Amino acid sequence: MAMKKHEVQNLYRKRAGLYDLSANLYYLIGFREQHYRQRAVELLRLKKGDVIVEIGCGTGLNFSLLQRRIGPEGRIIGVDLTDRMLEQARRRVFRQGWNNVELVCMDAARFVFPSGVNGILSTFVLTLMPGFDRIIRTGRASLAPEGRFAILDLKKPENAPLWLTSLMVRLTAPFGVSLDLAERHPWESIEKHFPGTFYEEFFFGFVYLSVGEVG
Ligand SMILES: C[S@@+](CC[C@H](N)C(=O)[O-])C[C@H]1O[C@@H](n2cnc3c(N)ncnc32)[C@H](O)[C@@H]1O
Repeated sequence: MAMKKHEVQNLYRKRAGLYDLSANLYYLIGFREQHYRQRAVELLRLKKGDVIVEIGCGTGLNFSLLQRRIGPEGRIIGVDLTDRMLEQARRRVFRQGWNNVELVCMDAARFVFPSGVNGILSTFVLTLMPGFDRIIRTGRASLAPEGRFAILDLKKPENAPLWLTSLMVRLTAPFGVSLDLAERHPWESIEKHFPGTFYEEFFFGFVYLSVGEVG
């Protein structure tokens, strides 16, 4: 069953310390997480000096990729519900000596996007949030001309055998994934709220990348 907000928070409090390591373990089954992240950031088409909001930034696994695009003159605003995940993100920011990252600990459903942001990114998060449609709609309203919203997340493939889907759900259950989350389709909200969209799948259709452009 889909978890409530406090359950998600408790789960990620427990996972925070070993999150980066455990996320990398999925490579053992051919899940090329870093490649999917790179593709998402690439499709945001960010430029030096851009402002990017990352929804559910967790420990900041996307920050290096984003920094390469926006440079020190750009700005990252990372929003996450779980204090311990953000502590890990804060350590990363400190280690790297980045001065252009703002971390906000709150439910993304309550976050007020600053106006004129150039990109919004969310990786492996939005399906966990029942209010994703509103986040996508308000995010879109905050984007500057040519701004983009990229979602990378898990989904249930249309034609996968049940055993394979059940296996994937089991493997990702430690991160709060359950089969009923398959009813949530954030990519449809991207299609609803953006005039221009792009969609790509990876890993037998279990992973999708959906990008909306303001135009
Ligand atoms: C699977 S992790 C993904 C972290 C990061 N985006 C990544 O790709 O590694 C899910 C993250 O979503 C955050 N999260 C879940 N529900 C949230 C909400 N309602 N608002 C903000 N963050 C949330 C969790 O705290 C956790 O850090």
